[in-house]
Amino acid sequence: MRLMLLGPPGAGKGTQAESISKQFNIPHISTGDIFRQNIKNGTELGHKAQEFMNKGLLVPDELVVDLVKDRLSQEDCQNGFLIDGFPRTIPQADALDRELNNMGINLDRVINIQVDREILIERAVGRRVCKQCGAAYHIKFNPPKAEGICDKCGGELEQRKDDLEATVAKRIEVYLEQTEPLIAYYSRKGIIQNIDGTQEIKTVFNSILEGLRG
Ligand code: AP5
Ligand code: MG
Ligand code: ZN
Repeated sequence: MRLMLLGPPGAGKGTQAESISKQFNIPHISTGDIFRQNIKNGTELGHKAQEFMNKGLLVPDELVVDLVKDRLSQEDCQNGFLIDGFPRTIPQADALDRELNNMGINLDRVINIQVDREILIERAVGRRVCKQCGAAYHIKFNPPKAEGICDKCGGELEQRKDDLEATVAKRIEVYLEQTEPLIAYYSRKGIIQNIDGTQEIKTVFNSILEGLRG
């Protein structure tokens, strides 16, 4: 299964990706997570990406495309993958198309998670992520068992730097301008699956599974 998750900031892409990747035993490839890992490790890529991320802007296409190409060529992607947060611009989508073509494969489905703006802000601002393993929680909708502590690894939870309300608003604006056109792009290819992302986490997951079976 070769899948892509599309949707605005805070829509629930990462949350659903965790369950989907377990269900189908395919790797979850999140460009946002890769950048955050690079920032944590103090790499040059991390340094460059951070500047854009903290402002709520997209990292330039040339810093993203080769990174994803490399990742898709790795062994664990042979039987499928789930890309989350890429492509985010038309040039990125064209580059992915060319690369998949070269590899002789196609995307099976683009799962488009739809959520209204007010809900997005509340979700992103209330999100807390584990410093150690990156797991995401929500102070109201998906709280950890013990406040401020990761259920999975006991790590400390923190707020993402780009989850301040003004930055989230900027990210949504950037999404509408640069990423939303991809809905039409993939609709034309006939592979889009629209999902109501305002439902509970489990219900959203069940809708995705149902859509993939159909
Ligand atoms: P990235 O990390 O991809 O961020 P994003 O797309 O803005 O999406 P988020 O991770 O914020 O949201 P999500 O949809 O994963 O939601 P989640 O499941 O966590 O990118 C960050 C930055 O990196 C970008 O701004 C850009 O600078 C750069 N970047 C990355 N990729 C790039 C690219 N291809 N090109 C250029 N730049 C790139 O859920 C959110 C919260 O809601 C959580 O707290 C969760 O617990 C809760 N929640 C989830 N689902 C539900 C539900 N159904 N009900 C209630 N609460 C829920
Ligand atoms: Mg995410
Ligand atoms: Zn953790």
